[in-house]
Amino acid sequence: MSTITNICCIGAGYVGGPTMAVIAQKCPHIKVNVVDVNPERIAAWNDVNLENLPIYEPGLAEMVGESRGRNLFFSTQIEQAINNAQIIFISVNTPTKTYGKGKGMAADLKFVELCARQIASTSSENKIVVEKSTLPVRTAQAIKNILDNTGTGVKYQVLSNPEFLAEGTAIQDLLEPDRVLIGGEENPEGKNAIEALASIYANWVPREKILQTNVWSSELSKLTANAFLAQRVSSINSISALCEKTGANIDEVAKAIGMDKRIGDKFLKASVGFGGSCFQKDILNLVYICRSLNLQHVADYWEQVKTINDYQKQRFADNIIQTLYNTVSGKKIALLGWAFKKDTNDTRETPAMYVAKELIDDQAEIHVYDPKVTKQQIINDLEYLGVDTQKNLHIHSSPYTASEKAHAVAILTEWDEFKSLKWEQIYSEMLKPAFIFDGRSILDMQKIKQIGFKVYCIGKEPMF
Ligand code: UDX
Ligand code: UDX
Repeated sequence: MSTITNICCIGAGYVGGPTMAVIAQKCPHIKVNVVDVNPERIAAWNDVNLENLPIYEPGLAEMVGESRGRNLFFSTQIEQAINNAQIIFISVNTPTKTYGKGKGMAADLKFVELCARQIASTSSENKIVVEKSTLPVRTAQAIKNILDNTGTGVKYQVLSNPEFLAEGTAIQDLLEPDRVLIGGEENPEGKNAIEALASIYANWVPREKILQTNVWSSELSKLTANAFLAQRVSSINSISALCEKTGANIDEVAKAIGMDKRIGDKFLKASVGFGGSCFQKDILNLVYICRSLNLQHVADYWEQVKTINDYQKQRFADNIIQTLYNTVSGKKIALLGWAFKKDTNDTRETPAMYVAKELIDDQAEIHVYDPKVTKQQIINDLEYLGVDTQKNLHIHSSPYTASEKAHAVAILTEWDEFKSLKWEQIYSEMLKPAFIFDGRSILDMQKIKQIGFKVYCIGKEPMF
């Protein structure tokens, strides 16, 4: 393989956009084309005002500003980009299937398959095709079959190169990854292809952090990493329920166990539940694969991670209703935070929407404030859950108007700004008794209690 000077990425989303922006910055000698079927999304990536990029990530706008128009291009010209590229990354979404066999469990590979067919019908020279999307084990084989059987005789190497970035820290994670994983065929052509891709990352990632494996290990490692991370959150969340009943404090327990080097202190923050595009989807996918392979016990084990997560979201909403004297009908409840975690405008699988739905089903008046999520996005999320958003939903651009005359405030995302709100002012403007339900355990309970609030914090005995 000659030196790589031209690559393209199909899918200008949360993964494709930031990943390509970093490659473009670190490899000025490579022309990077990011293409997408969605013209509005591409227009947003090309917006002269960098504040209008379609996704928010700290540091991303500056990085795009530096490379865009130099060696980083966003367009809808998919075929042209495929044809010119030596390496094609597939970074389209792989949602959980909503129909047919595997509905609600398996990953929907429709878009990945479309990409493979498009690459096959367009390419006139040999290509390396890289799976960036998280995919079930052995998807590379399916892609290879499509490429080899529908193509025009050119040769393809399919690599698995899963992305481990987390939203909100995407740029940092890409600049200093714990590891880069590349899986490929175990033959000379496969090794060459792996090396071509590795040589791109080697522009800024130390060689010892670039792992090379077979394709199946790489695909399965991505699912397993997300399953382990989600499992940690569900484990600490399961103990948070126990803490609330026993007077133990989940933050103290997390610190005490996290100082054990064998356990480690990351991913032990109790919460109202995990959200995001990956954890639930990947667990469901893992469970589905295990069931398909007749590994019932393994499937049941991992399914519990999702069960506990559903329980945690439900428990949080139920607690609000019970505490407010078993009904929230007609009551104003302020929800602070909508994103699935801080520093992102992404709301996919956000626990906030499930909590809001439960409360609206009990006829509460929901008033939402989130510093980054748009009003339309909140409406879309609730409509997706079948909630009538015409009544009972109000969106605010200030946490103070959202909580004015409210019966209760619930914190659903751990945005830093929530820690330093003028809580005295909020208290004075709320109805009494004024309740706070802290689903992210970010407030100092004692201080909040002293102001006069009745306070519940996830994983701690309530102070009502
Ligand atoms: C990624 C991964 O690819 C997914 O597997 C992982 O589990 C989550 O992260 P993400 O970048 O977050 O997906 O998805 P999204 O932001 O929805 O972006 C995907 C883009 O692909 C969209 O802009 C969509 O328009 C585009 N797309 C989709 C195409 O260009 N062609 C298609 O055929 C389908
Ligand atoms: C995750 C993986 O971390 C990343 O490696 C993978 O590529 C994609 O999926 P992401 O979904 O962006 O990334 O965010 P992450 O930081 O992992 O958080 C996921 C969810 O778990 C969030 O809702 C977060 O609030 C929650 N969480 C995380 C907790 O509740 N407690 C924790 O201690 C950590």
